[in-house]
Amino acid sequence: MAGRIPQSFIDELLSRVDVVDVVDSRVKLKKAGKNYSACCPFHNENTPSFTVSRDKQFYYCFGCGATGSALKFVMEFDGLSFPDAVEKLADASGLEVPREQQSRQQIEQQKEQEPLYTRMQESADFFMRQLRTSDSRQKAVDYLKGRGLSGRAAKFFGIGYAPPGWDNLQSELASDNERNKQLVTAGMLIEKEDGRTYDRFRDRIMFPIRDVRGRVIAFGGRVLGDEKPKYLNSPETPIFQKNRELYGLYEARKIRQKLTRILIVEGYMDVVALAEYGIHYAVATLGTATSEHHLRRLFRTVPEIIFCFDGDQAGRTAAARAMETVLPVLEDGLQARFLFLPDGEDPDTLVRQEGRDAFEQRLNQSRHLPEFLFDHLKEQVDFDTLDGKARLDQLAAPLISRIPKGTLRDLMVAELERQIGVHSRAMDKLAEQPEPPPAEPEHGHSPVMPDYHTEQLPAAQWYAQDEEASSSEDTDERLVPIVERAILALIKHPSLASEIALPELEAQTDRERLLLEIIRKLQHSPQSSSVGLLIQWIGTPYHSELTQLANANHSNIKPVLAEVSMALKRLQNRSYEAEFQQLKAMFEHSETRKKMSDDDIRKLKEYQRQRREFTAARGDIYLNNPRQR
Ligand code: UTP
Ligand code: MN
Repeated sequence: MAGRIPQSFIDELLSRVDVVDVVDSRVKLKKAGKNYSACCPFHNENTPSFTVSRDKQFYYCFGCGATGSALKFVMEFDGLSFPDAVEKLADASGLEVPREQQSRQQIEQQKEQEPLYTRMQESADFFMRQLRTSDSRQKAVDYLKGRGLSGRAAKFFGIGYAPPGWDNLQSELASDNERNKQLVTAGMLIEKEDGRTYDRFRDRIMFPIRDVRGRVIAFGGRVLGDEKPKYLNSPETPIFQKNRELYGLYEARKIRQKLTRILIVEGYMDVVALAEYGIHYAVATLGTATSEHHLRRLFRTVPEIIFCFDGDQAGRTAAARAMETVLPVLEDGLQARFLFLPDGEDPDTLVRQEGRDAFEQRLNQSRHLPEFLFDHLKEQVDFDTLDGKARLDQLAAPLISRIPKGTLRDLMVAELERQIGVHSRAMDKLAEQPEPPPAEPEHGHSPVMPDYHTEQLPAAQWYAQDEEASSSEDTDERLVPIVERAILALIKHPSLASEIALPELEAQTDRERLLLEIIRKLQHSPQSSSVGLLIQWIGTPYHSELTQLANANHSNIKPVLAEVSMALKRLQNRSYEAEFQQLKAMFEHSETRKKMSDDDIRKLKEYQRQRREFTAARGDIYLNNPRQR
């Protein structure tokens, strides 16, 4: 399915789909004025701050800043890569996705893989059928019942049965040579040295493993008794890479309930049992450790991942390994947690024993990564001694430095230093560019920002010096630096947001929207420092942008309130400028002037009055323009 997707097709696709429909089919929307709204699927909230605009064909969350087109929504909500999201949207609109410059190799790969998916689906259907029709179906059904599995759950997960015997699947599905070969490649048949083939899975309960698009790509098969191996899994094939796939992820998404966290467990039966008890957000790795790829994929869907481990020593070792894997993936706003189960229990047995609420209680109390990291390391050193503390520094620094630069990492360094009682030299050694600790002053301004509040000019005076201000016709382009400076001013002095009266106005660019949103956020929960403001934006697409702005050196920022209110005025001005120009042009020619209604004249006068006010505030000379009548 490779080859570049031409931009023209993406444009066409976006012009055909309606973001309102796309979102609404996943998150129920309510009409709210011109737009639609809902509780945001990308963060936890009780009052809807997620809006979708049909006119503009985008969604935006005032709570977390999530924003984008229909395509972006499908990527984020369904956890798909860009090409997969395009495929899915195109599919739903009955369009074929064209591909550019597909290499011969890619075409061949696709040709080879397509029939494998078909064979796997046929196999899954076959196994499910056997659960109803095979002569030995009774013992399989008894086994599943004995484990407390309902027919509904079995159906939802597509669980089936491979009957005893060497050629059940083969005689059903390998109707010709080519299919036989494909079944070997797909791992369903094993080929002996003499070229003859036989069924890989015999007398086992079959769990189909699906990729995120729902295609069956492999199986796990469990014996009914105590034979070994307990589970037999498909080998790696052209369509199945064990360490990239997760059992249950497709099914978790399919439920369409909002996913806010994902639980990673060990076994197939754990996923199925949890789902049966209403915990539909568990996935299992396939007998391998959790990989960075797994985690990146999951964090595209949810901000919180909980790892579940046995309470024994093996569980702790596995947890430590999972922790190391997750560290580089932990962007600010993402959370990893660790749940340790009582000895001898797994999620399957536990949830059946104590039920959903008690199990979710455990999840809610599970340990957060920072806590787990320090506890785990402190177990390895003699923490009550000075040399033990020095050793803790040595052990912790390499782990902490794996976390991406950001607030979490800063906080972890601060915590390390609090624990050892001195500055961390191990961190110094590891960091190429040591960053200042995240000091949050109680009042006043963040240490990263110079204080410029000394120069107190009246607004009109310095706007007159502003060359930008000499034009009254603000295009979007002209406004860019003005909006940017207003944002900067707010970053430097967030407390002043409370003095701003936010007018009704429409943002036309992302930056403008950001400015308005910063003001709203600050008015909602006031901050006194840059750091406080930045923390409000953690986990949003704007966080790194704001951090960059905060850290850049801007010496020419003027007194803050005027800077911000001027930007707002000019945004407001822009909205009526176009109409003003039109009315003015009509008024200036006698023929068109005759056609103007009283209402037009009134509007023109009102606009003129607003402009005068506006330009007066800038010390503009427009007031003396003789053309006014
Ligand atoms: P467990 O041995 O913990 O079994 O293996 P389980 O999941 O509790 O299975 P039940 O409850 O006895 O049915 C955990 C996971 O490790 C992999 C499987 O993915 C299994 O779900 N595994 C285990 C294998 O791949 N092969 C095996 O022989 C055993
Ligand atoms: Mn088990």
